[in-house]
Amino acid sequence: MSKVRIGFFDSGIGGISVLSYARRRLPGADYIYYADTDHVPYGTKSPEDILRYSDAAVGFLAEQGVSAVVVACNTATSMAISYLREKYPFPIVGMEPAVKPAAAAHPGANILVCATPVTIAGKKLHTLIENNYPSEEQPDLVGLPGLVTFAENGIFDCETVCGYLETVIDRTKNYAAVVLGCTHFGYFRDSFRDLLGDIDLIDGTEGTVNRLISILSQNSIDVPDAQGSTAFYQTGRPVTDPAVLAYYDQLLTRSEILK
Ligand code: DGL
Repeated sequence: MSKVRIGFFDSGIGGISVLSYARRRLPGADYIYYADTDHVPYGTKSPEDILRYSDAAVGFLAEQGVSAVVVACNTATSMAISYLREKYPFPIVGMEPAVKPAAAAHPGANILVCATPVTIAGKKLHTLIENNYPSEEQPDLVGLPGLVTFAENGIFDCETVCGYLETVIDRTKNYAAVVLGCTHFGYFRDSFRDLLGDIDLIDGTEGTVNRLISILSQNSIDVPDAQGSTAFYQTGRPVTDPAVLAYYDQLLTRSEILK
């Protein structure tokens, strides 16, 4: 069976949490991960810039001969997914905040949806909420750009992160669940729990990888059984620095531990 290359793309390290889960479910694929480190964060940029950067990222992955791409970024999905799907010939899986599973698991409860400011302001999220919640039970929304900065700078200690979270999250709301609507946020599950107790933290990782698996099968793309590889790129440049690769490896593991 021939090799299958799957491209992953995020503004930075957030999508590594999705890649980690995909590698567990589809270990035989070869993965190319594109972190747009020159332009991170996306969550505070203009829609035009996000579209341009996303196009460059997927264009690069197309040149590497990928069979499918996962846009492991809620912000890029929100701003660019329709354009990308129209332009490129391979299947493209996007990510959106897991509002639907949260509504199904916690009917009538207080829910908080966290994402980047761009995703929070975007039409896609508001349509998703309208389709899943009656108007009198809307979830609360909060933009947490600070978590993207922490993640990109390797700051995960609960004291710093909780200090930030408590300035933006109203604990008196007794949320039953928090939707982690940005792939960078999954690395902070322990801090969310430190601040809010043992609440349900819901992200789109599993749904996205399930979708990838079903799209590959619909397109008759078979993933071989043999162990595949993973290559990392930063805005199109191969990552060869052992320290950076070791950090990415740490994030792959952190994503597994914090699930
Ligand atoms: N990880 C991205 C997301 O899922 C965006 C983070 C950023 O660049 O602001 O939305």
